[in-house]
Amino acid sequence: MVTREDLTAEILSNAEVAPCHYLLALAVSPVYRDARPGQFVMLRPGGLGIPFLGRPLGIYSLSGHARGARIEILYRAAGRGTKVISTRCEGDRLEVLGPLGNRFTCFPGMDTAVLVAGGIGIAPLVFLAERLTTGPAKDRVRVVAYIGARDAATLLGVDRVRAFGAEVRISTDDGSAGHRGPVTELFRNEMGSFDTARTGVFACGPYPMLRRMGEIVADRPMPCQVLMEERMACGMGACLGCTIEVRGPGGPEYRQVCTDGPVFDLRDILWR
Ligand SMILES: Cc1cc2nc3c(=O)[nH]c(=O)nc-3n(C[C@H](O)[C@H](O)[C@H](O)COP(=O)(O)OP(=O)(O)OC[C@H]3O[C@@H](n4cnc5c(N)ncnc54)[C@H](O)[C@@H]3O)c2cc1C
Ligand code: FES
Repeated sequence: MVTREDLTAEILSNAEVAPCHYLLALAVSPVYRDARPGQFVMLRPGGLGIPFLGRPLGIYSLSGHARGARIEILYRAAGRGTKVISTRCEGDRLEVLGPLGNRFTCFPGMDTAVLVAGGIGIAPLVFLAERLTTGPAKDRVRVVAYIGARDAATLLGVDRVRAFGAEVRISTDDGSAGHRGPVTELFRNEMGSFDTARTGVFACGPYPMLRRMGEIVADRPMPCQVLMEERMACGMGACLGCTIEVRGPGGPEYRQVCTDGPVFDLRDILWR
C-alpha cells in the first residue's frame, strides 16, 4: 500500500549545473529501490501553490539512502512548474508520485547499445548507461552515446556517461563542442558502422528529433526504443492528456504515454 511517506521527498541538493539546468537530489521512500531506466516521477512543490499539477521528470540516477533511496533528477527550468522547483532548497519537501511508467528493455542478442540524446533527453539515458555498464549485461554490451545540445554550456551528462565506460560522440547546434549540427545527423553519418542484427538504439529528446530518428532508421532494421516526453496532467492514466497514436494491427490505436509508456518502439509511433 502506498503511504503518505511514499508521496513526499526531501531535497538533499538542488544546484544549477548549466544555464537554466538543475541537478536535484531527493531522499525518497524504499518503493524507489526497484526503479528502472525510463521510469519517471510526477513532481510538484506541494501545498496549494503553483503549479497545481505535477510535472513528469525522468530518473537520472538511483542509489541507496537511509530513508530508502536517493534519486537524482536532471531538469531544465522550462516553464512555470520547473522554475518553481528550481527555487526549492536543501531540506525542503516536494510531493512526488512514482516511480511511474514502463522502462527501457534490452533487445535479444544485443551486443551494442547506441544511445541518442537531444538536450535534456540525456537525463533518462544516463540512468540507462549506468545500468548497461554495471548490471548483468556489462560484460557483453558496448555502449555508444551520441549526446547533442544547443551549445557547449548546455551539454550535460558527458562526464558521467564516460565514467561508466561508454564511448561518447558529441554534437552541438552552434559547433561550440564536437560535431556541428543535430545529433541525429551525427548518428546518421555513423550508423553504417553498427551491425544491425546486434545493435539496439535508445533515444530521448524533443519531439521533432525523435520523429527524425524515425526517418533515419526507416531503412535500417535496427530495433529502436524512444522515450516520449509528452505533456502530462495526472501521470496515472486518468485524464487522457498524454494520448498518442500508434500503429495497431487494424489501423491507428491510442496509447497513454504515462501508463503504456513513456518508452515505445520507435516504429510503432504515428508521428504528428
Ligand atoms: C516521461 C517524461 C520524462 C521527462 N523527463 C524530463 C527530465 O528528466 N528532465 C526535464 O527537464 N524534462 C523532462 N521532461 C519534460 C518536462 O516534463 C517538461 O519540461 C515540464 O513538464 C515542463 O513544465 P513547466 O511547468 O516547467 O513548463 P510549462 O510552463 O508547462 O511549459 C513551458 C514550455 O515547455 C513546453 N513543454 C511543456 N511540457 C513539455 C514536454 N513534456 N516536452 C516538451 N516541451 C514541453 C511548453 O510547451 C512550453 O513551451 C519529461 C517529460 C516526460 C513526459
Ligand atoms: S497524464 Fe493523465 S492519462 Fe497520462
